[in-house]
Amino acid sequence: MRSHHKISALLAALSLSFVTACSGPAEPDTHQQLSNKAVPDYWPRIQSEVKTDPSIEAQVKEILAGMTVEQKVAQLIQPEIRDISVEDMRRYGFGSYLNGGGAFPDNNKHASVQDWVDLAEKLYQASVDDSLDGSSIPTMWGTDAVHGHNNVIGATLFPHNIGLGAANNPELIEQIAGATAKEVAATGIDWIFAPTVAVTRDDRWGRTYEAYSEDPKIVRDYSYAIVKGLQGRDENFLSQQQVLSTVKHFVGDGGTEGGDDQGNNLATEKELYEIHAQGYVGGLTAGAQSVMASFNSWHGEKVHGSEYLLTKVLKERMGFDGFVVGDWNGHGQIPGCSNDNCPDAINAGLDVFMVPTGAWKPLLENTISQVKEGIIPMPRLDDAVSRVLRVKLRAGLFAKPSPANRPLAGNTDLIGHPEHREIARQAVRESLVLLKNSEQLLPLKPYQKVLVAGDGADNIGKQSGGWTITWQGTGNENADFPGGTSIYGGIREIVEAGGGKAELSAEGNFSQKPDVAIVVFGEEPYAEGNGDLANLEYQRGNKQDLALLRKLKAQNIPVVSVFLSGRPLWVNPELNASDAFVAAWLPGSEGQGVAEVLFTDKDGNIRYDFSGKLSFSWPATPEQTTVNVGDTDYQPLLPYGFGLRYGDNDVLGDNLNERVNSSSTELVPLALLENAIRAPWSMSIGTANKQTPVTSAVMTSGPVQMRTMDRFVQEDARTLHFDGSAPGQVRIGAPFPQDLRSYLERNGALSMDVLIQQKPVAAVTLSMDCGPDCGAGVDITEQLQSMPSDKWQTLSVDLACFRDAQNLAGVFNPLILTSEGQTGLSLSKIYIKPDIGQPLIRCND
Ligand code: BGC
Ligand code: BGC
Repeated sequence: MRSHHKISALLAALSLSFVTACSGPAEPDTHQQLSNKAVPDYWPRIQSEVKTDPSIEAQVKEILAGMTVEQKVAQLIQPEIRDISVEDMRRYGFGSYLNGGGAFPDNNKHASVQDWVDLAEKLYQASVDDSLDGSSIPTMWGTDAVHGHNNVIGATLFPHNIGLGAANNPELIEQIAGATAKEVAATGIDWIFAPTVAVTRDDRWGRTYEAYSEDPKIVRDYSYAIVKGLQGRDENFLSQQQVLSTVKHFVGDGGTEGGDDQGNNLATEKELYEIHAQGYVGGLTAGAQSVMASFNSWHGEKVHGSEYLLTKVLKERMGFDGFVVGDWNGHGQIPGCSNDNCPDAINAGLDVFMVPTGAWKPLLENTISQVKEGIIPMPRLDDAVSRVLRVKLRAGLFAKPSPANRPLAGNTDLIGHPEHREIARQAVRESLVLLKNSEQLLPLKPYQKVLVAGDGADNIGKQSGGWTITWQGTGNENADFPGGTSIYGGIREIVEAGGGKAELSAEGNFSQKPDVAIVVFGEEPYAEGNGDLANLEYQRGNKQDLALLRKLKAQNIPVVSVFLSGRPLWVNPELNASDAFVAAWLPGSEGQGVAEVLFTDKDGNIRYDFSGKLSFSWPATPEQTTVNVGDTDYQPLLPYGFGLRYGDNDVLGDNLNERVNSSSTELVPLALLENAIRAPWSMSIGTANKQTPVTSAVMTSGPVQMRTMDRFVQEDARTLHFDGSAPGQVRIGAPFPQDLRSYLERNGALSMDVLIQQKPVAAVTLSMDCGPDCGAGVDITEQLQSMPSDKWQTLSVDLACFRDAQNLAGVFNPLILTSEGQTGLSLSKIYIKPDIGQPLIRCND
C-alpha cells in the first residue's frame, strides 16, 4: 500500500504560532512522596556572607504591614519590556521586570546607552508613582548579561562560560563579573540573571556552553567568585557600581536525560547535591540574593512546582533568605498550571513569576483572587513579598537615586571600556586549549605569509555564539560589534606588525602560496534547546570544513585549526587533517586574544603560552555524550584537564579513527508516548488555529476530547474523540526543533499503536512541521478505515512521507493528527524508529 500526498491545506494549518505546552500527565506519586520527605543530612546549612540585618528586617515588616493584597501580588509579577507599557507599571507597580535575550528599548537593536537608561528611568518613576496603585516601592530591572552585557551594542563580550572553565582562574572570573556589573549599571539596570552554575553531564545539551565544567569543583569556586564580582565585596556590597546576581537554574539543569533542554533529571538525591547543587554552595555562601528555578524536572516533578526542592531544601535547609525567581513562563509547565494561572508554584516556594507575554495580567488577577480565597495562604504570600523587599533593601533601592541619576548611568565610555576589553582578551588567551601540535608547528612566527580561512575567521557573531545581541546569537554582522575584533582582525594586526602578510579567504583561496593556513570554523550560534543534539559528531553528513582542511593539506600547506564550539565535539577527521588544533570555544568580542597566543613576537619569542585545560572531557566517538571525569569506565579521546603547552609532544597523531560505525550511531527509537508523553515532548489538542496544552487526564478543546487510558500500565494510552463540529487537531511537539534526519537516513518510520474506537467519516491526516508554513503530511484515512475496531494495531508511516518538511532537519511537532470529521481512536507506544523494514505506509521506493 502506498500513499503520499502533499497536503497543502495542512500547511496553512501548520503556520500557527507554536504552543509552549506542558509536559504530559503528572506522575502523581513523586509529588506526594516528596512533600512528606525529610531532607537528608548531606544538604548543608550555608553560611551566607550576607548576614541578617535586624534593621532591614524591621523595615521589611513595616513596609509589608502597610501593603494591600494587590500591592503584594504585584511584587511577585515580573513581566517583560516587550509586553508592558510605562502606564502598566504606574497602574500595577510590578516588583520587577526583565528584558529577554534580544529585547531592547523600543525594539531597537541599536538602542543607545541613553535609550536604555531612559527606559529604566521611566519605569522606575512609574513604579514609585503611587497615584494609581497606592504604592511607591521601587521596581528593579533584570537582564541576561551572561557573557558581558550581551544585549547591548558595543558591550564587551567575554568568552562564554565553557571557555572560562578552561581558564580555571577564579580571580579573573571575579574581574569579569566586576566589569560586567559596571557595563550593566551604565544602562541603569539593577540585576543580572547570572551565573549559570549548571554542571553539564551530557554534552548534547544545547546549554553546555553556559556551564563552566562537567565537574562541580570549578563551578562551585566560580559561582562564589562571580557573585562577589557582580554584587561587590565588603563595603562595596551592592554599592552603585554593583548589581544583584542570580544563581541559576536550580537545580539539575545540566543532568537531564539525553541532555534534553528542560528535560528530566534522574540523578539520585545525593548526586543532585554533590554534582548539580555545588554552584549553590559557592554562590549562596558569597551572598547571592536570588536563585532562578529551573525548567527541568527531577524524577518527573517540575522544579517550579517542587515544594521539596524550593522550600525544604533551598530555603529551610540551606537557609537561603533571598528570593526565588521563576524562569520564562516555567510555572506554566507545572501540570495543572498555565502561564496565566499557577498558585501551585507560589505554594511550592517560588517567590517571583517570570511572566513574559500577555499572560502577566490574568496571572496577576488570578493570583490576587487565589490569595483572597485562601488558595495561596497569606503567610506564604507575606514570606514571598518579604524576600523581595529584603533584597531591595539590601540593594539600597529605596535609598539610591533613580536609575538616570546613579553615578555610572549613561556613562557611554563604560560600554566596551578598554580595561574591560583587556580583561576579556586575557580571558580569551587563557581559555584556549591546545589539543594538537604536530612537530611544534605552533607558535607561528609573524613574519610569514599567513592564509586565514574558514567561515569563522572574520565573523564576530559566530565567535560569540548564542546570547549575543539576539537570543540565539544569529543575524548579527561585524558592524554590530563596534570596538570588537574578529579572530582574523587580531591575526592581521600581529602579522602585519611583525613584517608578514595575512590574507583572508573564507574558502581558502589565495593569490600567493601561504607558509601556513589558520582555519577558523565551528558551530553556528544557538541558545537553549535549539542547540540540543542527537550525538556529538561535528558536521554530520556535511563535512565542508573537513573538505577545506584537506584541500589545504593537499597543497602541502601546514594547517592550524581554530575550532569554535559550545561543547567538545567528535572531530577526529578534522583533527587528522590539521597539524595543530586549538579548541577556542566561544571567545566573544575580543578576537585578538587568539593571535596573541598563536604568534610569537617579531623576535620569535613566545608572547603567551597556552594555559587552558579542558573542563570537559573530549569524546572519542560521536556517542560518547556522557563521558565525565570520575566515571568508572573513563575512555575519552582527551581527558578532563588536558591541554598542551608549547614544547609538549603531540599525543594524537594523524590516524585517529574516522569511521562512524553506522550501527554504533546507536539510533535508538525516540519515544513520544511511552507510558507517558516523554520529554521534551508534550501534547496539545484543539483546532489548527487554537491548541490547548494537555494538563489533565480528561480535557476538551474545540472539537477534540482527550482522555488518558490504561492499556498495559496506568495511563499509558490516550483516547481521542473528534466530534466533527470542525476539523480537529492533536499534536505532540516540543518548544524547540528536533533534528530527525538520522532517522530519515536510516529508513525510519513514525510508529504507533492504534485502537479504533469509531471509524473516520472524513479525511484523517498525519503530518510533521518545521516552523511556520513548513511541513508535510500523508493521508491515513484508508488505513484507519481498514483496521478492525477491537484490536490494537501498529500503524507505521515511512519518514520519507514527511521528507518535504525540510528533510526533517528541524521538526517542532513530529505528530500532528488532523481529522476533518468525526472519529475516535486510542494511541499508545508512539515512536520515531530507525530501520523499520516494511512500514504500513510507504513513500520511499
Ligand atoms: C532562560 C534563562 C533566562 C531567561 C530570561 C530563559 O529562557 O532559561 O536562563 O534568564 O530566559 O531571558
Ligand atoms: C527570549 C529569551 C528567552 C526565550 C525563552 C526569547 O524570546 O528573548 O530571553 O530565554 O525566549 O523561550
